[in-house]
Amino acid sequence: MIKDECFTLYNGVLIPKIGFGTWQVADGEVAYEAVLSALKHGYRHIDTAYAYGNEQSIARAIQDSHIDRKELFITTKLPASIKSYEGAFDYFNRSLKNLNTDYIDLYLIHAPWPWEEVGKDCTEGNIEVWKAFVELYKQKKVRAIGVSNFHPEDIVPLIEATKVKPMVNQIRYFIGNTQEKVTTYCQENDILVEAYSPLATGSLLNNEILLKMAEKYQVSLAQLCIRYCLEKNTLPLPKSTHEERILSNIEVDFTISKEDMEYLDSLKGIGPVRYLRS
Ligand code: A2P
Repeated sequence: MIKDECFTLYNGVLIPKIGFGTWQVADGEVAYEAVLSALKHGYRHIDTAYAYGNEQSIARAIQDSHIDRKELFITTKLPASIKSYEGAFDYFNRSLKNLNTDYIDLYLIHAPWPWEEVGKDCTEGNIEVWKAFVELYKQKKVRAIGVSNFHPEDIVPLIEATKVKPMVNQIRYFIGNTQEKVTTYCQENDILVEAYSPLATGSLLNNEILLKMAEKYQVSLAQLCIRYCLEKNTLPLPKSTHEERILSNIEVDFTISKEDMEYLDSLKGIGPVRYLRS
């Protein structure tokens, strides 16, 4: 069953194949209940970020689930605006405290530039931050390190400066928006691609073409979208605040035929017009 399966990062760390996304899941009872429900239904991988503001609610849900910390895989992210070595340590410790844990499974640089300055060249700052990440990894405070929203030209300088490749790149990825250049580079270099917004934040869910195909497989459209990511060897991070959806989003033990995958691959740009935020 998919909920028991893992991808293996290039450093040997196992990462559950579906993660529970928590972007835009409101702090407080909403995040608490959603994560508690996800854990109850078999998710063991929770994806958050300091910037989502919900780390403390997630920690409460984890604590109340009584699941052994070692069975869980927790990802969080350094705020995109922090581009210094000291800042990375400072915010890492804040996340540790918020999440009430003594280590993080996967720590990501949230974006190559601050969200208010999308596209700005922050290569020097990213290198400083990446050096801090490598140090956190060496100190075993994190089991894996990576990036999010990075392009190959943002990744290469990090590797040149430290000789350490990110283990993960988390990008916006769904049917019709597969970011070929980034995905190919990462997969060729054994960097796992994680797919955030695998349902295009909900806007693929009324698509007639996809509805028809979902009907054929007798699955929901959301399940089709999530399975598509897995067929592409990317790790989907679906999110929902409704228990029945949380449950069904992890029940994707079917396969999509080669022909249908080719057809889905051809549906370029069926999702919403591009915008960037995770
Ligand atoms: P809700 O939280 O009300 O269930 P993405 O994962 O691409 O960011 O998409 C998340 C959006 O998709 C949310 O608005 C969520 O709404 C909705 N959603 C998640 N799972 C399902 C599902 N199985 N069926 C319908 N809508 C879903």
